[in-house]
Amino acid sequence: MLKTQGLGYWYQDKDQPLFQDINLEFEVGQSYAILGHSGTGKTTFLSLIAGLDKPKAGDILLDDRSLKKIGLTNYRRHDVSIVFQAYNLFTYMSPLNNLLTAMAITGAEHAGDKDFALKTLNDLGIGADLATRNVQHLSGGQQQRVAIARTMACDAQLVVADEPTGNLDEDNTKGVIEQFQRIAHDRQKCVIIVTHEPDVASQCDHQYRLENKQFTELV
Ligand SMILES: Nc1ncnc2c1ncn2[C@@H]1O[C@H](COP(=O)(O)OP(=O)(O)OP(=O)(O)O)[C@@H](O)[C@H]1O
Ligand SMILES: [Mg+2]
Repeated sequence: MLKTQGLGYWYQDKDQPLFQDINLEFEVGQSYAILGHSGTGKTTFLSLIAGLDKPKAGDILLDDRSLKKIGLTNYRRHDVSIVFQAYNLFTYMSPLNNLLTAMAITGAEHAGDKDFALKTLNDLGIGADLATRNVQHLSGGQQQRVAIARTMACDAQLVVADEPTGNLDEDNTKGVIEQFQRIAHDRQKCVIIVTHEPDVASQCDHQYRLENKQFTELV
């Protein structure tokens, strides 16, 4: 479904790429974890996959079409759902309206279905009382779960998450991973997450480590 071809990226110095010549394939119905030390370029890699930034070398293909052809704005709107800590919610809205708005913008199957949005939030531990409060009055972990619920409520086939369990306690971590596995397996999406937690990574179908500018599959 999603393929990187000779993918490379550097910030300032072309001779010091974060990663180079990366050739990976990600399939629907599967979940992928990316591990690696801090500063190796995991978030940078995800931002390329998410269409938030352009590769410096090589290309990314969705169903054999280059993201350059699809257009990054178009790609972000229709093809990918992003859970980034810095990639924020609408701060002036409630969790419920965040979901409903995202569902409307992306033309999701359940667009306009308030009960569906509430149930999706509730599945992630955001009950009816929190769902109608301004998101700014929620904790960091609660906001993160709203961002994950938004992903669940929209129909993009590719779900990309940067340390989605980084702020969560044990119970919520378990719940979130179960949800990610469910959307990969039952809803046939492709889920790619970056995590520092080996326990979280080991529950995904595939694990990669970014090290020495390369991705190595762990078996
Ligand atoms: N906008 C930027 N300009 C220059 N350098 C950057 C920029 N963003 C990140 N970097 C550098 O690129 C490297 C990779 O950053 P990145 O955020 O991708 O790492 P990471 O693997 O996600 O790390 P962590 O596990 O700590 O989140 C780091 O050394 C970082 O300092
Ligand atoms: Mg990071």
